Amino acid sequence: MNAQSEISHPILSVRNLRTAFETNDGSVEAVRGVSFDLRHKEVLGIVGESGSGKTVTAMSILRLLPPNGFITGGEILFDGSDLTKMKTGSLRRVRGDRIAMVFQDPMTSLNPLMPIGGQIEEMIREHRRGMSASDVKAEVLRLLKLVSIPEPEARYNTYPHEFSGGMRQRATIAMAIACEPDILIADEPTTALDVTIQEQILILLENLRDRLAMSVMFITHDLGVVAELCTRVIVMYGGMIMEEGSTADIFERPMHPYTAGLLASVPNLASDKGQKLSSISGSPPDMTHPPAGCPYSPRCENARNLCGAYVPPLFEAGGERRSSCWLLAPEAPSGGNPFKAGGRNG
Ligand SMILES: Nc1ncnc2c1ncn2[C@@H]1O[C@H](COP(=O)(O)OP(=O)(O)OP(=O)(O)O)[C@@H](O)[C@H]1O
Ligand SMILES: [Mg+2]
Repeated sequence: MNAQSEISHPILSVRNLRTAFETNDGSVEAVRGVSFDLRHKEVLGIVGESGSGKTVTAMSILRLLPPNGFITGGEILFDGSDLTKMKTGSLRRVRGDRIAMVFQDPMTSLNPLMPIGGQIEEMIREHRRGMSASDVKAEVLRLLKLVSIPEPEARYNTYPHEFSGGMRQRATIAMAIACEPDILIADEPTTALDVTIQEQILILLENLRDRLAMSVMFITHDLGVVAELCTRVIVMYGGMIMEEGSTADIFERPMHPYTAGLLASVPNLASDKGQKLSSISGSPPDMTHPPAGCPYSPRCENARNLCGAYVPPLFEAGGERRSSCWLLAPEAPSGGNPFKAGGRNG
């Protein structure tokens, strides 16, 4: 076993996950057969336009779906257990203890009526029993320092509303890492912050990843952030994975037209390559009536008749790359049923 194979070991395996919502317009399938691994100590970026199913995937992992949301299929394997089947009591111990989450809006995780120090204390007491009061306090101060909150002693009794947005997000990160989780899921943690603060939070997350033995799932629609922070990337669209690969591969050699479209619409990435800035025309599918075939086919310049009719499998494309695009099966008939005609089924 070399260092690389240790890094490659998955800590979480999502297999064919399906999540649906019951709505007045009927059932909406927001996650449609998603499979991926989160590896030991990696930062995995999950990108895609609004509505592609990123948050629902994350919420499914921790079973934090709203009351009208249901996991309808698949497995989420973590430490020998399937989280989709775990009893609520055990799941509660996994949340926070083993898998922690940071949301876009820090107030989602903070109690407005309690000073920051007390909230982190509570988290430590709940998940790391048996520590003395003075040890807990020392640990809170250590965490506040770790997330670069200046003058932690003075800030201990500060209420969330007295903090700036950036400081609040640092405090929620301190809470999330208080139990030294194996996995940190960060869902757009910097989107609500201004650009300089965003940059500081990203640097903080990068430092934490290196200092703590965590795997990070980083959800964002910002490809610039992915380039900076992530080792691997999953591109989602219409509740499915369109493409997966190392950050370098995804950015330098996108295989899926959707990934290429996303990259072309990022200002500095496009201009770096001397490309004309463009955004993908059209809009994401209405998930109450998604296209029968590839969800991207109505917007795709390369689409053949086949694409609108049949969902492509996630083709293995060499190394750690996978792409769900019929371009990878040029032998597939452009009109008929590719599965019957012996198209590759990865
Ligand atoms: N509470 C809900 N009730 C019904 N449908 C929902 C609900 N939450 C999400 N959905 C459906 O799931 C789809 C995916 O939503 P999700 O929040 O995962 O998108 P996202 O990729 O996180 O987008 P964003 O970048 O805007 O955060 C939505 O387009 C919507 O159709
Ligand atoms: Mg989201």
